[in-house]
Amino acid sequence: MWQLSILILCSCSGREIIGAGLQGPIPSSISLLRNLTDLRICEISGPAQGFPLLDNANGLVTVVLRSCNLSGGIPAYIWQKRDLLLLDVSFNKLVGGISRDIIGRSLRYVFLTSNMLSGDIPDSLLIEGATIDLSYNNFTWQGPDSPTCRPNMNLFVNLFKSSLSGNPLQDILPCTRDAKCPRYGCSLHVNSGGNELRVRENNHDVLYDGDASFDNGAGSFHTNTKNNWGLSSTGDFLDDNIQTNIYVASLENSTKLPSLYTTARLSPLSLTYISYCLQNGDYHINLHFAEIQYTNDTTYRNLGRRIFNIYIQGQLVKKDFNIEDEVGIGRPLVVPFNASVVNHTLEVRFYWAGKGTARFPKRGRYGPLVSAISVNPISKRCSIGGKKKTVTYVGFAIMGLCLLMIISAAVWWKWFSKDNTRNYEDFQGVDLKTMSFSLKQLKTATRNFNPTSKIGEGGFGPVYKGTLRDGTIIAVKQLSSRSRQGNREFLNEIGVISCIQHPNLVKLHGCCIEEDQLLLVYEYMENNSLASALFDSNKSRTLLDWATRFKICVGIARGLAFLHEESRLKIVHRDIKATNVLLDKDLNPKISDFGLARLDEDEKTHVSTRVAGTIGYMAPEYALWGHLSYKADVYSFGVVALEIVSGKNNNKYIPNNDSVCLLDWACRLQTSKQYEELFDERLESKINKEEAETVVKVALLCTNGSPQMRPTMSEVVSMLEGRTCVPEVAPELGRHFEDLRFQTMRCSNQIGETESSVRTYSATVKSDTRFSTTSSNDQLDVQSVDTRSF
Ligand SMILES: *[C@@H]1O[C@H](CO)[C@@H](O)[C@H](O)[C@H]1NC(C)=O
Ligand SMILES: *[C@@H]1O[C@H](CO)[C@@H](O)[C@H](O)[C@H]1NC(C)=O
Ligand SMILES: *[C@@H]1O[C@H](CO)[C@@H](O)[C@H](O)[C@H]1NC(C)=O
Ligand SMILES: *[C@@H]1O[C@H](CO)[C@@H](O)[C@H](O)[C@H]1NC(C)=O
Ligand SMILES: *[C@@H]1O[C@H](CO)[C@@H](O)[C@H](O)[C@H]1NC(C)=O
Ligand SMILES: *[C@@H]1O[C@H](CO)[C@@H](O)[C@H](O)[C@H]1NC(C)=O
Ligand SMILES: *[C@@H]1O[C@H](CO)[C@@H](O)[C@H](O)[C@H]1NC(C)=O
Repeated sequence: MWQLSILILCSCSGREIIGAGLQGPIPSSISLLRNLTDLRICEISGPAQGFPLLDNANGLVTVVLRSCNLSGGIPAYIWQKRDLLLLDVSFNKLVGGISRDIIGRSLRYVFLTSNMLSGDIPDSLLIEGATIDLSYNNFTWQGPDSPTCRPNMNLFVNLFKSSLSGNPLQDILPCTRDAKCPRYGCSLHVNSGGNELRVRENNHDVLYDGDASFDNGAGSFHTNTKNNWGLSSTGDFLDDNIQTNIYVASLENSTKLPSLYTTARLSPLSLTYISYCLQNGDYHINLHFAEIQYTNDTTYRNLGRRIFNIYIQGQLVKKDFNIEDEVGIGRPLVVPFNASVVNHTLEVRFYWAGKGTARFPKRGRYGPLVSAISVNPISKRCSIGGKKKTVTYVGFAIMGLCLLMIISAAVWWKWFSKDNTRNYEDFQGVDLKTMSFSLKQLKTATRNFNPTSKIGEGGFGPVYKGTLRDGTIIAVKQLSSRSRQGNREFLNEIGVISCIQHPNLVKLHGCCIEEDQLLLVYEYMENNSLASALFDSNKSRTLLDWATRFKICVGIARGLAFLHEESRLKIVHRDIKATNVLLDKDLNPKISDFGLARLDEDEKTHVSTRVAGTIGYMAPEYALWGHLSYKADVYSFGVVALEIVSGKNNNKYIPNNDSVCLLDWACRLQTSKQYEELFDERLESKINKEEAETVVKVALLCTNGSPQMRPTMSEVVSMLEGRTCVPEVAPELGRHFEDLRFQTMRCSNQIGETESSVRTYSATVKSDTRFSTTSSNDQLDVQSVDTRSF
């Protein structure tokens, strides 16, 4: 007995121990084992016991006392063992602090997960290259000044929920000073162990974030700050004798499994997915599994057994879960759960409770395995909570709006009162930390704003294509330094866009304010704008087929419905037009340019101080009187929808009769119901007449002269998707409405007084589309249009 140098009492030593763990306590005679180098005891049930006496064993290399119901403190001498490489005392009830006196410089793995340890993390524990898991403890708050948060330190520290103090978000995102949610989401989709993946679910494309790129530290916490989720993984595959562990599995070239299931994340002990900044409410959680590690052939069949527990929000929801028992090997399995989110966080934990097989022939892979997670709100609208909450949200929105406006105004005023000398410190009131890019980064990405990288000229300056170091392709919008409006617009854009995400809205990755440069970084859209896809006569462009056009139409409607009704900040876009709808590589439409978007303070129409929009798309009441409501966007959407069906530009196209424009013509056709004349002749017979007719009818409803008669965007979506039918509205022949509607077109003719025809005028509209009541010489005063046209 005294000669014993290795003592393994863990079920991780083999598959013999399946079922109940050992019965404690750990024999005290263990202290007599002077030559002990490797001690592993886990999963002991029984009364609480103190840390076993190990002071005599000076040659200890590995100490595992996991889940042994240990109480009391960790004796100081443990930290002084010179050869100690791995210390795992996770899942116990240990209290007290960590000794400052750590001599063992060979310590590489320290797992303290799930105890009640407190105090500071001593500097001496933070050894270069080590893996230290402090998650689920009661250490002093790991703020940005704490040694564990030092950047440039070459170690893996998992600080997930390592302290009880601080606000709940600081537990999840330690090392941040003012942890707060930039926005609240209402879903989570993760393709575990894989890359970003688009999956078709219930007729919608759902984008699953990937976690394959997360570092493979043994005790680690990683976050996806874009969508506010993270994962904490702990444990080391003890028996594989391989230093570099692999925590992802993938099945190559599998034709049998859907791609979501061909990758999986593994964990030796415990794996927690956490979604923070989630709206409170009830959620459906689907956990996706497929056993892709064990194969079906007889050699391994009897050896591989994977058993683990699943916890949701800290509650055990599945005990001794075994994928193979449920569906067999290599088959997909979806396990549904329901859960409530109260503190904006959702926690799904997979925990290996020491059962099943540890010694797997190929590699020590035995712990939990998960293929994907999807979380969706039970109530579709994601507007959770009673009326009171809505009121507070609206309150916050209004407060946010006021703040934004005050900041905008202050910054704007400061800049221009200082004779254009920019003071970028003004921006510090805006929290841009999470999405800041350095100028150097963007210069490298766009090859120093090389003219060959330029992909367009937006309203406020050129747009460049760039590639970040990690391969992400981006579009960088450079705000021209002379554009006065631009600066104000810039702040608006950041504040507003960063709050909003939807598959049909262009994503803002971040921004850069440095050296006289104001840059916005957007996701790159491979297929340019809807306008170029529809109207460019370039023959090399392939014609958009009808199915795509219909998809685009529905997509824009969804994006707008989200902006108007679903997002937390309700927004009127104000400048919906074909050039502001971008197309990604799969020709999905995304609405861009929220620069003009402003929060709508009131449900009711109000007179806006500043009119901005594009002629031909602007609702009459807005163009003429500055009355702004969601219905102004609905009108613009109607015009775009007509353009999609006809493939013609509302401004440029002059029908062969006495109509002023496309819309005018469409209204005339409404009387005779000869909608087919509108259809793009290039599509020939390949158009779905029924769908196209629906689009035209909806477009005509949307462009009704009276805002009250126009549907809301959610009604539009529902009509386009065929869930509600399109009401028959008598054609508007009333002079009043008709006049109003085409007044804007006629105005545009007057604006371009030097131009002799509408056709040539339209060509110059580009540079002059934005006008404003903040009158300056080169800008058109809307009031004056008003008088001229009546
Ligand atoms: C420890 O090992 C050494 C040799 O490796 C041996 O001489 C000694 O007796 C051992 N001590 C005990 C207490 O087993
Ligand atoms: C741990 O010890 C406490 C106190 O003796 C006991 O109540 C508890 O059941 C034990 N836990 C386990 C898992 O055996
Ligand atoms: C956490 O640690 C503090 C001291 O650092 C102590 O006062 C508190 O009781 C501990 N909390 C728990 C739940 O153990
Ligand atoms: C998967 O397919 C690729 C080519 O399609 C091939 O090069 C690779 O070897 C295959 N991998 C496996 C594991 O069969
Ligand atoms: C595994 O083997 C069983 C029977 O031996 C068979 O029914 C099943 O289809 C096999 N599964 C796979 C994924 O090959
Ligand atoms: C979740 O809740 C829905 C009702 O909203 C119910 O139909 C379903 O059975 C529940 N699922 C589970 C797994 O409890
Ligand atoms: C939510 O947070 C509050 C305050 O931070 C805390 O008192 C409460 O216990 C938390 N609730 C849950 C279920 O975590």
